[in-house]
Amino acid sequence: MQLNNYIGGSWQSTEGADYTAVINPANGEQLAEVRLSTKEDVDLAVQAAKKAQKKWVLVPAPKRADFLYEIGRVMKERKEHLAQVLTKEMGKVIEEARGEVQEGIDMAFYMAGEGRRLFGETVPSELQDKFAMSVRAPIGVVGLITPWNFPVAIATWKSFPAIVAGNTFIWKPATETPMMAYEMALIFDEVGLPSGVANIVFGSGSEVGTAMIEHPDVRVISFTGSTETGRHVAELGGRHLKKVSLEMGGKNAVIVMEDADIDLAVEGILWSAFGTAGQRCTACSRVIVHKDVKKELEQKLVEAMEGLTIGDGLDESVKVGPIINQQALEKVQSYIRIGTEEGAKLLAGGRLLTEGALAKGHYVEPTLFTDVKWDSRLAQEEIFGPVVSLIEVADLDEAIDVNNSVKYGLSSSIFSRDINKAFRAQRDLDTGIVYVNAGTTGAEIHLPFGGTKGTGNGHRDSGVAALDVFTEWKSIYVDYSGKLQRAQIDTD
Ligand code: UN1
Repeated sequence: MQLNNYIGGSWQSTEGADYTAVINPANGEQLAEVRLSTKEDVDLAVQAAKKAQKKWVLVPAPKRADFLYEIGRVMKERKEHLAQVLTKEMGKVIEEARGEVQEGIDMAFYMAGEGRRLFGETVPSELQDKFAMSVRAPIGVVGLITPWNFPVAIATWKSFPAIVAGNTFIWKPATETPMMAYEMALIFDEVGLPSGVANIVFGSGSEVGTAMIEHPDVRVISFTGSTETGRHVAELGGRHLKKVSLEMGGKNAVIVMEDADIDLAVEGILWSAFGTAGQRCTACSRVIVHKDVKKELEQKLVEAMEGLTIGDGLDESVKVGPIINQQALEKVQSYIRIGTEEGAKLLAGGRLLTEGALAKGHYVEPTLFTDVKWDSRLAQEEIFGPVVSLIEVADLDEAIDVNNSVKYGLSSSIFSRDINKAFRAQRDLDTGIVYVNAGTTGAEIHLPFGGTKGTGNGHRDSGVAALDVFTEWKSIYVDYSGKLQRAQIDTD
Protein backbone atom coordinates (compact mmCIF):
# COMPACT_ATOMS: atom_id res chain seq x y z
CA MET A 1 0.00 0.00 0.00
CA GLN A 2 1.29 3.43 -0.97
CA LEU A 3 0.10 6.54 0.81
CA ASN A 4 -0.02 9.60 -1.40
CA ASN A 5 -0.85 13.21 -0.79
CA TYR A 6 -4.45 14.34 -0.78
CA ILE A 7 -4.49 17.72 -2.50
CA GLY A 8 -7.43 19.68 -3.87
CA GLY A 9 -9.75 16.71 -3.40
CA SER A 10 -7.67 14.18 -5.31
CA TRP A 11 -4.81 11.79 -4.66
CA GLN A 12 -1.56 13.07 -6.09
CA SER A 13 0.07 10.97 -8.80
CA THR A 14 3.18 9.06 -7.82
CA GLU A 15 5.64 9.49 -10.68
CA GLY A 16 9.23 9.79 -9.53
CA ALA A 17 8.25 10.23 -5.88
CA ASP A 18 10.24 9.06 -2.87
CA TYR A 19 8.71 6.87 -0.19
CA THR A 20 9.60 5.61 3.25
CA ALA A 21 8.30 2.58 5.13
CA VAL A 22 5.58 2.73 7.80
CA ILE A 23 6.45 0.16 10.47
CA ASN A 24 4.31 -1.48 13.14
CA PRO A 25 6.30 -0.80 16.34
CA ALA A 26 4.87 -3.94 17.96
CA ASN A 27 6.46 -6.38 15.53
CA GLY A 28 8.52 -4.58 12.91
CA GLU A 29 6.09 -5.46 10.14
CA GLN A 30 5.89 -3.01 7.22
CA LEU A 31 2.35 -1.65 6.99
CA ALA A 32 2.66 0.74 4.07
CA GLU A 33 4.92 3.15 2.25
CA VAL A 34 4.42 6.84 2.64
CA ARG A 35 5.30 9.62 0.28
CA LEU A 36 8.21 11.89 1.15
CA SER A 37 6.96 15.12 -0.37
CA THR A 38 8.86 18.15 -1.55
CA LYS A 39 8.53 21.91 -1.33
CA GLU A 40 6.75 21.81 -4.72
CA ASP A 41 4.09 19.48 -3.32
CA VAL A 42 3.51 21.90 -0.46
CA ASP A 43 3.10 24.71 -2.95
CA LEU A 44 0.52 22.71 -4.90
CA ALA A 45 -1.42 22.07 -1.71
CA VAL A 46 -1.29 25.72 -0.69
CA GLN A 47 -2.59 26.81 -4.10
CA ALA A 48 -5.48 24.34 -3.81
CA ALA A 49 -6.24 25.48 -0.26
CA LYS A 50 -6.09 29.12 -1.21
CA LYS A 51 -8.50 28.66 -4.08
CA ALA A 52 -10.89 26.63 -1.92
CA GLN A 53 -10.82 29.14 0.92
CA LYS A 54 -12.34 31.90 -1.20
CA LYS A 55 -15.51 29.83 -1.55
CA TRP A 56 -15.39 28.11 1.82
CA VAL A 57 -15.49 31.39 3.69
CA LEU A 58 -18.81 32.17 1.97
CA VAL A 59 -20.42 28.94 3.16
CA PRO A 60 -22.45 29.86 6.28
CA ALA A 61 -20.76 28.48 9.40
CA PRO A 62 -23.71 26.20 10.34
CA LYS A 63 -23.38 24.65 6.87
CA ARG A 64 -19.63 24.22 7.31
CA ALA A 65 -20.49 22.54 10.59
CA ASP A 66 -22.77 20.07 8.83
CA PHE A 67 -19.65 18.54 7.28
CA LEU A 68 -18.21 18.09 10.75
CA TYR A 69 -21.38 16.31 11.91
CA GLU A 70 -20.98 13.99 8.95
CA ILE A 71 -17.29 13.43 9.64
CA GLY A 72 -18.14 12.64 13.28
CA ARG A 73 -20.87 10.25 12.22
CA VAL A 74 -18.59 8.32 9.86
CA MET A 75 -15.79 8.22 12.46
CA LYS A 76 -18.30 6.77 14.92
CA GLU A 77 -19.42 4.13 12.44
CA ARG A 78 -15.79 3.28 11.68
CA LYS A 79 -14.50 3.57 15.24
CA GLU A 80 -13.27 -0.01 15.57
CA HIS A 81 -11.51 0.01 12.22
CA LEU A 82 -9.81 3.34 12.96
CA ALA A 83 -8.72 2.09 16.38
CA GLN A 84 -7.19 -1.04 14.85
CA VAL A 85 -5.21 1.00 12.32
CA LEU A 86 -4.11 3.35 15.09
CA THR A 87 -2.82 0.52 17.26
CA LYS A 88 -0.98 -1.04 14.35
CA GLU A 89 0.87 2.06 13.31
CA MET A 90 1.39 3.76 16.67
CA GLY A 91 1.43 0.86 19.12
CA LYS A 92 -0.89 2.11 21.89
CA VAL A 93 -3.13 -0.62 23.30
CA ILE A 94 -6.44 -1.09 21.55
CA GLU A 95 -8.58 0.19 24.42
CA GLU A 96 -6.64 3.45 24.40
CA ALA A 97 -6.81 3.63 20.60
CA ARG A 98 -10.60 3.42 20.86
CA GLY A 99 -10.45 6.21 23.42
CA GLU A 100 -8.37 8.35 21.11
CA VAL A 101 -10.75 7.86 18.18
CA GLN A 102 -13.58 8.78 20.55
CA GLU A 103 -11.72 11.98 21.37
CA GLY A 104 -11.79 12.83 17.65
CA ILE A 105 -15.51 12.03 17.42
CA ASP A 106 -16.19 14.24 20.44
CA MET A 107 -14.22 17.04 18.83
CA ALA A 108 -16.21 16.73 15.59
CA PHE A 109 -19.57 17.09 17.32
CA TYR A 110 -18.35 19.77 19.69
CA MET A 111 -16.85 21.94 16.95
CA ALA A 112 -19.89 21.36 14.75
CA GLY A 113 -21.88 23.05 17.52
CA GLU A 114 -19.53 26.02 17.26
CA GLY A 115 -20.83 26.51 13.72
CA ARG A 116 -23.97 27.94 15.35
CA ARG A 117 -22.06 30.05 17.86
CA LEU A 118 -18.65 31.47 16.89
CA PHE A 119 -19.57 34.18 19.36
CA GLY A 120 -18.31 37.70 19.01
CA GLU A 121 -19.36 40.72 21.03
CA THR A 122 -21.79 43.52 20.46
CA VAL A 123 -21.08 46.57 22.57
CA PRO A 124 -22.76 49.97 22.86
CA SER A 125 -21.08 52.71 20.90
CA GLU A 126 -20.02 55.91 22.63
CA LEU A 127 -21.78 57.78 19.81
CA GLN A 128 -25.43 58.06 18.85
CA ASP A 129 -26.72 56.04 15.89
CA LYS A 130 -23.64 53.92 15.72
CA PHE A 131 -23.37 50.16 16.08
CA ALA A 132 -20.28 48.30 17.30
CA MET A 133 -19.49 44.59 17.20
CA SER A 134 -16.67 42.11 16.82
CA VAL A 135 -16.73 38.91 14.78
CA ARG A 136 -14.33 36.01 14.44
CA ALA A 137 -12.92 36.17 10.92
CA PRO A 138 -11.12 33.21 9.36
CA ILE A 139 -7.43 33.72 8.69
CA GLY A 140 -7.02 31.87 5.39
CA VAL A 141 -4.79 28.88 4.72
CA VAL A 142 -3.45 27.29 7.90
CA GLY A 143 -0.70 24.70 8.39
CA LEU A 144 -1.07 21.85 10.86
CA ILE A 145 1.90 19.77 12.02
CA THR A 146 0.92 16.82 14.20
CA PRO A 147 2.81 14.18 16.23
CA TRP A 148 2.76 10.40 16.13
CA ASN A 149 1.60 9.80 19.71
CA PHE A 150 -1.99 11.00 19.14
CA PRO A 151 -2.23 10.80 15.37
CA VAL A 152 -5.97 11.34 15.17
CA ALA A 153 -7.08 13.24 18.29
CA ILE A 154 -4.54 16.04 18.02
CA ALA A 155 -5.27 16.41 14.30
CA THR A 156 -8.95 16.91 15.10
CA TRP A 157 -8.15 19.48 17.83
CA LYS A 158 -6.58 21.59 15.11
CA SER A 159 -8.33 20.82 11.83
CA PHE A 160 -11.95 20.92 13.04
CA PRO A 161 -11.82 24.41 14.60
CA ALA A 162 -9.81 25.58 11.58
CA ILE A 163 -12.49 24.58 9.10
CA VAL A 164 -15.57 25.48 11.10
CA ALA A 165 -14.14 29.00 11.33
CA GLY A 166 -13.79 29.21 7.53
CA ASN A 167 -10.12 28.38 6.96
CA THR A 168 -8.70 25.69 4.73
CA PHE A 169 -5.71 23.63 5.82
CA ILE A 170 -2.54 21.77 4.87
CA TRP A 171 -1.86 18.96 7.32
CA LYS A 172 1.53 17.32 7.70
CA PRO A 173 1.14 14.23 9.89
CA ALA A 174 4.17 12.60 11.53
CA THR A 175 6.04 10.29 9.16
CA GLU A 176 5.60 7.42 11.66
CA THR A 177 1.79 7.62 11.60
CA PRO A 178 0.48 8.62 8.18
CA MET A 179 -2.19 5.91 8.03
CA MET A 180 -4.55 7.75 10.35
CA ALA A 181 -4.23 10.84 8.16
CA TYR A 182 -4.97 8.69 5.13
CA GLU A 183 -8.06 7.29 6.88
CA MET A 184 -9.20 10.81 7.69
CA ALA A 185 -8.68 11.89 4.07
CA LEU A 186 -10.94 9.02 2.98
CA ILE A 187 -13.59 10.33 5.35
CA PHE A 188 -13.21 13.96 4.21
CA ASP A 189 -13.63 12.72 0.65
CA GLU A 190 -16.58 10.51 1.45
CA VAL A 191 -18.61 13.22 3.20
CA GLY A 192 -18.04 15.54 0.25
CA LEU A 193 -15.97 18.16 2.00
CA PRO A 194 -15.34 20.63 -0.83
CA SER A 195 -12.06 20.05 -2.70
CA GLY A 196 -9.12 21.91 -1.26
CA VAL A 197 -10.60 22.52 2.19
CA ALA A 198 -8.54 19.65 3.63
CA ASN A 199 -5.13 18.88 2.14
CA ILE A 200 -2.68 16.30 3.42
CA VAL A 201 0.99 16.41 2.53
CA PHE A 202 3.15 13.58 3.83
CA GLY A 203 6.83 13.98 4.51
CA SER A 204 9.56 15.12 6.82
CA GLY A 205 9.57 18.14 9.08
CA SER A 206 12.74 19.47 7.52
CA GLU A 207 11.33 19.47 3.99
CA VAL A 208 7.53 19.68 4.24
CA GLY A 209 7.28 21.41 7.64
CA THR A 210 9.82 24.03 6.68
CA ALA A 211 8.13 24.67 3.33
CA MET A 212 4.80 25.15 5.10
CA ILE A 213 6.26 27.60 7.60
CA GLU A 214 8.09 29.56 4.93
CA HIS A 215 5.21 29.68 2.45
CA PRO A 216 3.89 33.24 2.22
CA ASP A 217 0.29 32.06 1.83
CA VAL A 218 0.22 29.91 4.98
CA ARG A 219 -0.85 32.31 7.71
CA VAL A 220 -0.96 30.11 10.80
CA ILE A 221 1.17 27.19 11.94
CA SER A 222 -0.26 24.98 14.65
CA PHE A 223 2.38 22.55 15.85
CA THR A 224 2.47 19.74 18.42
CA GLY A 225 5.78 18.01 19.08
CA SER A 226 9.01 18.34 20.99
CA THR A 227 10.14 21.59 22.60
CA GLU A 228 13.32 21.47 20.55
CA THR A 229 11.44 21.34 17.22
CA GLY A 230 8.83 23.80 18.48
CA ARG A 231 11.53 26.36 19.20
CA HIS A 232 12.75 26.01 15.62
CA VAL A 233 9.16 26.35 14.30
CA ALA A 234 8.72 29.54 16.37
CA GLU A 235 12.02 31.01 15.20
CA LEU A 236 11.35 30.34 11.56
CA GLY A 237 7.69 31.34 11.89
CA GLY A 238 8.71 34.54 13.65
CA ARG A 239 10.98 35.49 10.80
CA HIS A 240 8.03 35.10 8.42
CA LEU A 241 5.62 36.85 10.83
CA LYS A 242 3.41 33.78 11.16
CA LYS A 243 0.94 33.19 13.92
CA VAL A 244 2.48 30.12 15.56
CA SER A 245 0.66 27.97 18.11
CA LEU A 246 2.91 25.50 19.90
CA GLU A 247 2.12 22.50 22.05
CA MET A 248 5.32 20.88 23.29
CA GLY A 249 6.90 18.81 26.03
CA GLY A 250 5.94 17.95 29.57
CA LYS A 251 7.45 16.64 32.79
CA ASN A 252 4.23 16.07 34.64
CA ALA A 253 3.94 15.13 38.29
CA VAL A 254 1.45 13.43 40.56
CA ILE A 255 1.63 14.74 44.12
CA VAL A 256 0.60 12.26 46.80
CA MET A 257 -0.11 13.86 50.18
CA GLU A 258 -0.11 12.09 53.54
CA ASP A 259 -3.92 12.13 53.65
CA ALA A 260 -4.40 10.68 50.15
CA ASP A 261 -6.31 7.53 49.28
CA ILE A 262 -3.12 5.63 48.45
CA ASP A 263 -4.80 2.84 46.48
CA LEU A 264 -6.52 5.40 44.28
CA ALA A 265 -3.23 7.27 43.83
CA VAL A 266 -1.55 4.02 42.73
CA GLU A 267 -4.24 3.50 40.09
CA GLY A 268 -3.94 7.10 38.90
CA ILE A 269 -0.14 6.88 38.66
CA LEU A 270 -0.21 3.56 36.82
CA TRP A 271 -2.72 4.79 34.27
CA SER A 272 -1.12 8.13 33.59
CA ALA A 273 2.51 6.95 33.71
CA PHE A 274 2.31 3.75 31.72
CA GLY A 275 -0.68 4.33 29.43
CA THR A 276 0.49 4.80 25.81
CA ALA A 277 3.78 3.42 27.23
CA GLY A 278 4.43 6.85 28.73
CA GLN A 279 4.48 8.46 25.30
CA ARG A 280 2.05 11.26 26.09
CA CYS A 281 2.88 14.90 26.58
CA THR A 282 0.66 14.56 29.63
CA ALA A 283 2.26 11.37 30.99
CA CYS A 284 3.11 11.26 34.67
CA SER A 285 6.89 10.99 34.90
CA ARG A 286 7.37 12.25 38.45
CA VAL A 287 5.65 11.23 41.66
CA ILE A 288 6.12 13.75 44.44
CA VAL A 289 5.28 11.97 47.67
CA HIS A 290 4.91 13.07 51.28
CA LYS A 291 7.54 11.36 53.44
CA ASP A 292 4.93 9.76 55.75
CA VAL A 293 3.40 7.68 52.95
CA LYS A 294 6.47 7.13 50.78
CA LYS A 295 7.16 3.54 51.87
CA GLU A 296 3.54 2.48 51.49
CA LEU A 297 3.24 4.09 48.05
CA GLU A 298 6.49 2.52 46.84
CA GLN A 299 5.45 -0.92 47.94
CA LYS A 300 1.97 -0.69 46.42
CA LEU A 301 3.27 0.74 43.15
CA VAL A 302 5.84 -2.02 42.73
CA GLU A 303 3.16 -4.64 43.42
CA ALA A 304 0.74 -3.06 40.95
CA MET A 305 3.40 -2.78 38.26
CA GLU A 306 3.92 -6.52 38.36
CA GLY A 307 0.43 -6.91 36.88
CA LEU A 308 1.17 -4.84 33.77
CA THR A 309 1.26 -7.12 30.74
CA ILE A 310 3.54 -5.86 27.98
CA GLY A 311 3.16 -6.69 24.30
CA ASP A 312 1.30 -6.03 21.08
CA GLY A 313 -1.51 -3.58 21.79
CA LEU A 314 -3.95 -5.51 19.59
CA ASP A 315 -4.05 -8.18 22.29
CA GLU A 316 -6.88 -7.03 24.61
CA SER A 317 -5.07 -8.32 27.71
CA VAL A 318 -1.97 -6.19 27.09
CA LYS A 319 -1.68 -3.05 29.21
CA VAL A 320 1.55 -1.55 27.91
CA GLY A 321 2.45 -1.48 24.21
CA PRO A 322 5.72 -0.80 22.40
CA ILE A 323 7.83 2.33 22.06
CA ILE A 324 7.42 3.97 18.65
CA ASN A 325 10.88 3.22 17.19
CA GLN A 326 14.46 2.25 17.92
CA GLN A 327 15.65 5.81 18.40
CA ALA A 328 12.94 6.53 20.97
CA LEU A 329 13.71 3.25 22.73
CA GLU A 330 17.39 4.19 22.96
CA LYS A 331 16.44 7.54 24.46
CA VAL A 332 14.38 5.80 27.16
CA GLN A 333 17.23 3.39 27.81
CA SER A 334 19.71 6.25 28.09
CA TYR A 335 17.60 7.88 30.81
CA ILE A 336 17.44 4.62 32.74
CA ARG A 337 21.25 4.64 32.64
CA ILE A 338 21.40 8.32 33.63
CA GLY A 339 19.09 7.64 36.57
CA THR A 340 21.32 4.86 37.85
CA GLU A 341 24.45 6.97 37.37
CA GLU A 342 22.86 9.85 39.25
CA GLY A 343 22.33 7.59 42.23
CA ALA A 344 18.59 7.07 42.00
CA LYS A 345 17.39 3.70 43.28
CA LEU A 346 15.77 1.40 40.72
CA LEU A 347 12.69 -0.16 42.35
CA ALA A 348 11.08 -1.87 39.37
CA GLY A 349 11.63 -2.50 35.67
CA GLY A 350 14.52 -0.94 33.79
CA ARG A 351 15.16 -3.69 31.25
CA LEU A 352 14.57 -3.82 27.52
CA LEU A 353 12.38 -6.76 26.56
CA THR A 354 13.77 -8.78 23.71
CA GLU A 355 12.52 -12.29 24.29
CA GLY A 356 10.11 -14.31 22.14
CA ALA A 357 7.56 -12.30 20.21
CA LEU A 358 8.82 -9.08 21.79
CA ALA A 359 12.15 -9.37 19.96
CA LYS A 360 10.66 -7.93 16.79
CA GLY A 361 9.26 -4.79 18.42
CA HIS A 362 10.59 -2.03 20.69
CA TYR A 363 9.74 -2.81 24.28
CA VAL A 364 10.92 -1.60 27.65
CA GLU A 365 9.64 -2.54 31.09
CA PRO A 366 7.64 0.04 33.01
CA THR A 367 10.29 1.49 35.28
CA LEU A 368 10.21 3.08 38.73
CA PHE A 369 13.07 4.94 40.39
CA THR A 370 12.95 6.22 43.95
CA ASP A 371 15.09 8.58 46.06
CA VAL A 372 15.35 10.75 42.96
CA LYS A 373 16.75 14.24 43.52
CA TRP A 374 14.33 16.90 42.30
CA ASP A 375 17.04 18.68 40.31
CA SER A 376 18.60 15.60 38.69
CA ARG A 377 18.34 15.07 34.95
CA LEU A 378 16.03 12.11 35.52
CA ALA A 379 13.59 14.42 37.32
CA GLN A 380 13.94 17.41 35.02
CA GLU A 381 14.07 16.18 31.43
CA GLU A 382 11.31 14.76 29.28
CA ILE A 383 11.84 11.03 28.62
CA PHE A 384 8.68 10.15 26.67
CA GLY A 385 8.59 6.58 27.88
CA PRO A 386 7.36 4.50 30.83
CA VAL A 387 9.84 5.78 33.41
CA VAL A 388 8.72 7.31 36.70
CA SER A 389 10.83 9.14 39.30
CA LEU A 390 9.69 9.19 42.91
CA ILE A 391 10.72 12.28 44.86
CA GLU A 392 10.19 12.65 48.61
CA VAL A 393 8.97 15.92 50.14
CA ALA A 394 8.10 17.13 53.64
CA ASP A 395 4.95 19.18 52.98
CA LEU A 396 2.64 20.71 50.37
CA ASP A 397 4.75 23.83 49.85
CA GLU A 398 7.78 21.75 48.99
CA ALA A 399 5.66 19.52 46.74
CA ILE A 400 4.46 22.54 44.78
CA ASP A 401 7.99 23.96 44.51
CA VAL A 402 9.29 20.63 43.20
CA ASN A 403 6.40 20.39 40.75
CA ASN A 404 7.14 23.88 39.45
CA SER A 405 10.92 23.40 39.27
CA VAL A 406 10.88 21.94 35.75
CA LYS A 407 11.04 23.96 32.55
CA TYR A 408 7.72 22.53 31.36
CA GLY A 409 4.17 23.26 32.52
CA LEU A 410 1.60 20.97 30.93
CA SER A 411 -0.20 18.86 33.52
CA SER A 412 -0.08 18.18 37.26
CA SER A 413 -2.11 16.29 39.80
CA ILE A 414 -2.64 16.08 43.53
CA PHE A 415 -4.08 13.23 45.55
CA SER A 416 -5.41 14.51 48.86
CA ARG A 417 -8.61 14.23 50.89
CA ASP A 418 -8.08 17.71 52.27
CA ILE A 419 -10.07 20.20 50.22
CA ASN A 420 -7.96 23.13 51.40
CA LYS A 421 -4.77 21.48 50.15
CA ALA A 422 -6.43 20.58 46.85
CA PHE A 423 -7.59 24.14 46.24
CA ARG A 424 -4.24 25.64 47.19
CA ALA A 425 -2.56 23.22 44.83
CA GLN A 426 -4.81 24.02 41.87
CA ARG A 427 -4.00 27.69 42.42
CA ASP A 428 -0.23 27.30 42.79
CA LEU A 429 0.68 24.50 40.39
CA ASP A 430 2.17 26.23 37.36
CA THR A 431 0.68 24.03 34.62
CA GLY A 432 -2.04 24.48 32.02
CA ILE A 433 -3.96 21.47 33.35
CA VAL A 434 -4.44 20.40 36.98
CA TYR A 435 -6.14 17.26 38.24
CA VAL A 436 -7.40 16.59 41.76
CA ASN A 437 -7.59 12.91 42.74
CA ALA A 438 -6.86 11.71 39.19
CA GLY A 439 -3.64 11.14 37.25
CA THR A 440 -2.06 13.64 34.86
CA THR A 441 -3.87 12.40 31.72
CA GLY A 442 -7.52 12.51 30.74
CA ALA A 443 -8.08 15.89 29.16
CA GLU A 444 -11.55 16.36 27.64
CA ILE A 445 -11.94 18.18 24.35
CA HIS A 446 -14.27 20.95 25.48
CA LEU A 447 -11.65 22.58 27.69
CA PRO A 448 -8.43 24.21 26.48
CA PHE A 449 -5.43 21.89 26.17
CA GLY A 450 -1.96 23.29 26.62
CA GLY A 451 0.62 24.46 29.06
CA THR A 452 2.88 27.11 30.48
CA LYS A 453 6.64 27.77 30.23
CA GLY A 454 8.50 25.40 27.87
CA THR A 455 5.28 23.56 27.01
CA GLY A 456 3.67 26.26 24.95
CA ASN A 457 3.66 29.82 23.71
CA GLY A 458 0.35 30.99 25.12
CA HIS A 459 -2.02 29.31 22.69
CA ARG A 460 -4.33 26.37 23.33
CA ASP A 461 -5.63 23.40 21.39
CA SER A 462 -9.22 22.12 21.68
CA GLY A 463 -12.06 23.85 23.51
CA VAL A 464 -13.33 27.23 22.33
CA ALA A 465 -9.78 28.46 22.90
CA ALA A 466 -8.71 26.65 19.72
CA LEU A 467 -10.80 29.16 17.76
CA ASP A 468 -8.47 31.90 18.96
CA VAL A 469 -5.66 30.24 17.00
CA PHE A 470 -7.65 29.99 13.78
CA THR A 471 -9.50 33.32 13.76
CA GLU A 472 -8.70 36.98 13.80
CA TRP A 473 -10.91 39.39 15.68
CA LYS A 474 -12.52 41.85 13.34
CA SER A 475 -14.16 44.92 14.92
CA ILE A 476 -16.96 46.44 12.89
CA TYR A 477 -18.51 49.88 13.35
CA VAL A 478 -21.66 50.90 11.50
CA ASP A 479 -22.55 54.56 11.64
CA TYR A 480 -26.19 55.15 10.69
CA SER A 481 -26.35 58.82 11.72
CA GLY A 482 -25.74 60.08 8.20
CA LYS A 483 -23.05 62.49 9.36
CA LEU A 484 -19.39 62.36 10.28
CA GLN A 485 -19.10 61.51 13.97
CA ARG A 486 -15.59 61.68 15.37
CA ALA A 487 -14.87 59.06 18.02
CA GLN A 488 -13.70 60.42 21.37
CA ILE A 489 -14.48 63.99 20.20
CA ASP A 490 -18.11 64.36 19.11
CA THR A 491 -19.41 62.65 22.22
CA ASP A 492 -21.59 65.39 23.78
C1 UN1 B 1 -0.85 14.21 24.50
O1 UN1 B 1 -0.40 13.87 25.58
O2 UN1 B 1 -0.08 14.42 23.55
O3 UN1 B 1 -5.25 13.95 28.32
C2 UN1 B 1 -2.30 14.36 24.28
C3 UN1 B 1 -4.75 13.11 27.61
C4 UN1 B 1 -5.28 12.90 26.20
C5 UN1 B 1 -4.55 13.76 25.23
C6 UN1 B 1 -3.07 13.70 25.36
N1 UN1 B 1 -6.69 13.19 26.18
O4 UN1 B 1 -3.79 12.45 27.98
